[in-house]
Amino acid sequence: KANSELKDFLHINDFDKDTILKILDRAAEVKALLKSGENTYLPFKGKTMSMIFTKPSMRTRVSFETGFSLLGGHAIYLGPNDIQMGKREETRDIARVLCRYNDIIMARVFAHQDILDLAKYATVPVVNGLTDYNHPCQIMADALTIIEHIGHLEGTKVVYVGDGNNIVHSWLLLAAVVPFHFVCACPEGFEPDKETVEKARKAGISKIEITNDTKEAVQGADVVYSDVWASMGQKEEAEHRRKVFKGFQVDEALMKLAGRKAYFMHCLPAERGIEVTDGVIEAPYSIVFPQAENRMHAQNAIMLHLLGF
Ligand code: CP
Ligand code: NVA
Repeated sequence: KANSELKDFLHINDFDKDTILKILDRAAEVKALLKSGENTYLPFKGKTMSMIFTKPSMRTRVSFETGFSLLGGHAIYLGPNDIQMGKREETRDIARVLCRYNDIIMARVFAHQDILDLAKYATVPVVNGLTDYNHPCQIMADALTIIEHIGHLEGTKVVYVGDGNNIVHSWLLLAAVVPFHFVCACPEGFEPDKETVEKARKAGISKIEITNDTKEAVQGADVVYSDVWASMGQKEEAEHRRKVFKGFQVDEALMKLAGRKAYFMHCLPAERGIEVTDGVIEAPYSIVFPQAENRMHAQNAIMLHLLGF
């Protein structure tokens, strides 16, 4: 249910449009403050966060840890071998212990059910730092980046090219709340989850297209977006996927078809020469690094919202 008072940040469409746009405004505001060198805004002073990672990460770990500490708090990194979620201990026990130490929990996990269980059993806010199903913090940062570069998200055309994965699900769930035109161009058999597409379409907010035709898809795009073809947990499929995904690489020719106003975005890490060419990532229209930077600012605003600031 859309609700600005929710305890956790698990899916973008759990929140209503007002709340999402407010969080994005807040992200820009606190970003400006931090960029100005201001270091006396310390709302998280005396607060601690545990960060559970069952998968690798650079951006998520460093941006959460840095952001929380810049705002006065202390973050604790728990890597795949530390608590061994579900192996050494059950998720529901981990949740009920950590919330007695920490004010907030962030987690990156495989099964989506694990983040739902953490949220169910922890009495403190739980933030989704990526699951096999979705990656809401990433798409909040992407929305912030689009607003910074284009001026608004509403009414833009975002064209994702590649695997219908967790990133696509979060784009779809954002499209269920904020109006824009979202297109996913993917190979047959690699479409996003049907129910999620239905949910986004049923919301009646955004225009949603799923297609196999990249050339047609990118026409008039404001943003062309790409992600790895084999996500974490699928790396043994990488070779097979390289064959199936041929034709879904974002290269200079595809960007040319998109037109002069199109930016290139990628959540990173990228495999240059696979899903995107080196030339596209390095081009002036590529905004992948400001996009990565905005992870921290979007997440700061999410945590401020959840912790009641
Ligand atoms: N985009 C992203 O989540 O990066 P990491 O896997 O490095 O955290
Ligand atoms: N789809 C990718 C995103 C990485 C940030 C993965 O899940 O590995």
